[in-house]
Amino acid sequence: MDNIREIRDGKLFFDGCDTVELARKYGTPLYVMSYSEIEKRLSELKRDFTDKYKGARVAYASKAFCTVGMYEILKRAGVCIDVVSGGELYAAEKAGFPAERVEFNGNNKLPSEVDQAVRYGVGRIIVDGLQELPIIVEACKKYNKKMNIMVRITPGVAASTHDYIVTGKKDSKFGIPLDEDVFLPIIKEIIDSEWLDLYGLHMHIGSQLFENDAFLEALDVLMDWAGRIKTEYGAEIKEVNFGGGFGVKYTNEERKPYSFFLDPMMKRLEERSNEIGIDMPAPVIEPGRSVVAEAGMTLYTIGQIKDIKGIRKYVSVDGGMGDNIRVALYQAEYDGVIANRAGETADETVTVCGKYCESGDILLKDFKVPSSVSMGDILATYSTGAYGYSMASNYNNNPVPGVVLVRDGKSDWMVKPQTYEQIVQNNVIPDIL
Ligand SMILES: Cc1ncc(COP(=O)(O)O)c(C=O)c1O
Repeated sequence: MDNIREIRDGKLFFDGCDTVELARKYGTPLYVMSYSEIEKRLSELKRDFTDKYKGARVAYASKAFCTVGMYEILKRAGVCIDVVSGGELYAAEKAGFPAERVEFNGNNKLPSEVDQAVRYGVGRIIVDGLQELPIIVEACKKYNKKMNIMVRITPGVAASTHDYIVTGKKDSKFGIPLDEDVFLPIIKEIIDSEWLDLYGLHMHIGSQLFENDAFLEALDVLMDWAGRIKTEYGAEIKEVNFGGGFGVKYTNEERKPYSFFLDPMMKRLEERSNEIGIDMPAPVIEPGRSVVAEAGMTLYTIGQIKDIKGIRKYVSVDGGMGDNIRVALYQAEYDGVIANRAGETADETVTVCGKYCESGDILLKDFKVPSSVSMGDILATYSTGAYGYSMASNYNNNPVPGVVLVRDGKSDWMVKPQTYEQIVQNNVIPDIL
């Protein structure tokens, strides 16, 4: 166990805070985020990337965990952000996030979202749709602003990860397919437009990756097309965005340092730039999961325990698929501990299920707990900081839990829990009834 998570007096502590006490003070279910862990990851990114390579930038992928407080942390750290919706843009503006440090991604940006982004003055728009350019140009004219444009390519490589989080293969809803008659006209339209500046190329090949072969393969494809742009139009790209996808530890995975992925990528970027005769473009990455996953844990209170003789023992908690959909969606696996019995031997195998009306609402399969486990105990699931809160739903009209930030023994709300009233506040009884 690392120092962010430790056991003291038989109880689990997270960033210096007693998790059993947090559960009592703030209620459960509860997302807990460790400031120190986020800060540690941001400094690793600085050491391995932004301080090491000239012009390098990190654009944190907001989709992993987006709150106004998180944007405040990133703003102070000097990091850029990647947003994919009007809602994320709205939160960024609310946090007073500098517009030029925002990059706008998304495979189907709504005209209203493009308008919002151009008005705000975001630093990059990453084009991912075949009919997107006229929408951007219209907003540019309206606000009399020129936009920096990146083009997201579909490199046609299949990274090894869960099928739902592979995004770089040719059959994908993301990116511009690299067919000459599709890709080149889009590039030409950008070059010819007085409202758009062709800034560079973007790729994102998948998530939870532990090898760099697919990254390198995709970068080769990207640089082939950078060369093609140079020969066809004499234009040079100024920036290459490698995307995110750096793997994290949920159960037994071995987390690799950012340098494992980035050093070979930077070497290849330099070689390929020389080969095609362009100045080396500035590199950008978009990590999401690797910044926040291990910074999060979720606390639940144990309720009903159902021992089906000879088959399985179900231990239910007061949350489930509404606060963590990843198990049902991707068969994701997590680890955890009974926080108030962290010093006891965990020798009984149980299945931890949620309270939602779905048989698939399982959080932990074959999970070891002390045989003394009982109603009222506190379960902590680890590494829930990414794609947990941000993917939460109101299924069964259960409120989205709150988020507490912990830091060196101190704690405070980052997001307050939703109330029943907030769930129904937009419900109306139709006049036509
Ligand atoms: C375009 C883009 N960038 C970055 C990310 C972040 O990936 P990860 O959270 O795995 O780092 C994603 C995730 O889906 C993405 O689609």
